[in-house]
Amino acid sequence: MLIMSIETSCDETAAAIIENGQIIRSNVVASQAEMHSKFGGIIPEMAAREHMLNLIPVIDQALKISGITIDDIDAIGVTNGPGLAGSLLVGVNTAKGIAFPKNIPIQGINHLEGHIYASWLEENNPDDEFGFPLLCLIASGGHSDLVLMNNHQEFNLIARTRDDAAGEAFDKGARILGLPYPGGPSIQKSASNGCSGNFNLPRPKINNSLDFSFSGLKTALLREVQTLKNLNDQNKSDLASSFQEAITDTLIRNTLQAAEIHNVKGILIVGGVAANQRLREEIKKRSPIPLMIPKVEFCTDNAAMIGAAAFYRMKNNLTFEWNMDVIPNLSF
Ligand code: KG4
Ligand code: ZN
Repeated sequence: MLIMSIETSCDETAAAIIENGQIIRSNVVASQAEMHSKFGGIIPEMAAREHMLNLIPVIDQALKISGITIDDIDAIGVTNGPGLAGSLLVGVNTAKGIAFPKNIPIQGINHLEGHIYASWLEENNPDDEFGFPLLCLIASGGHSDLVLMNNHQEFNLIARTRDDAAGEAFDKGARILGLPYPGGPSIQKSASNGCSGNFNLPRPKINNSLDFSFSGLKTALLREVQTLKNLNDQNKSDLASSFQEAITDTLIRNTLQAAEIHNVKGILIVGGVAANQRLREEIKKRSPIPLMIPKVEFCTDNAAMIGAAAFYRMKNNLTFEWNMDVIPNLSF
């Protein structure tokens, strides 16, 4: 089954052609990060306009690279939430416009489900490697969710963030340190020259809950910066390292606790924050349960993961969701 997938939920305009949920015939991503970085964060209105300009050329390129035409496509999967309403609308309406004249089945795909299915793009997918149940940590710009996956399409949200998401914390922390957007990669880069032990930042824990909370950590970082008379490059790197350590440590602690409680066969670490090298290394060292982390390019937003999710949603259910709408606050 050949699926065309489209992703425009945030600041990446992306399209892919995916065969049988795993083989990547093409995967094109046009990032707007540079444009938004001038403003220190995403401007929703500008994001939607950029998607309008870039989506058709991105789809064209995805088709060209894969060597197929629109007539070869069996189905279209498009992210319809969660995300920025205006950005989602561009993707969903473009997908409908392509599907309608050709009568191609089309379905809306949950972006978070897409992040999880990035793990199925690997050669040995979680079905072959572990079996179910699986625990998924989705750590992105908008979410820090722990999701129990009992089978394909069977998701159970067991923990979330009470305030900032992990990626949001990286982005806000970077702003406090005067580092560029997106914050995750710039904190990771600065942290590589720093020593985490020179500052002591908290690991927030909510009593009797696996939920996350990162806003107190952000305030603690702000206090350290305000206390310092002069934020030079070295203490900026030390703070970046300490901040990165506090976030990754908290994510790992709750994930491993949840995995033990729910007796899972494997752990999937996904979402933009899963691109973080420190998190990748450290959780591999500390987890007694086998785990999988997609390649860095499939952790941050892309359409290949939406194509993989669409395959498992549509293989037994090739329907036309013409009345599908965007759902900016879609959850599991
Ligand atoms: O999944 P994603 O691309 O988009 C959303 O669905 O939100 O995640 C974006 C988030 C941003 O907050 C960004 O700072 C963070 O992922 N991120 C990272 C890294 N690369 C991206 N955080 C930590 N370390 C990284 N290397
Ligand atoms: Zn995402």
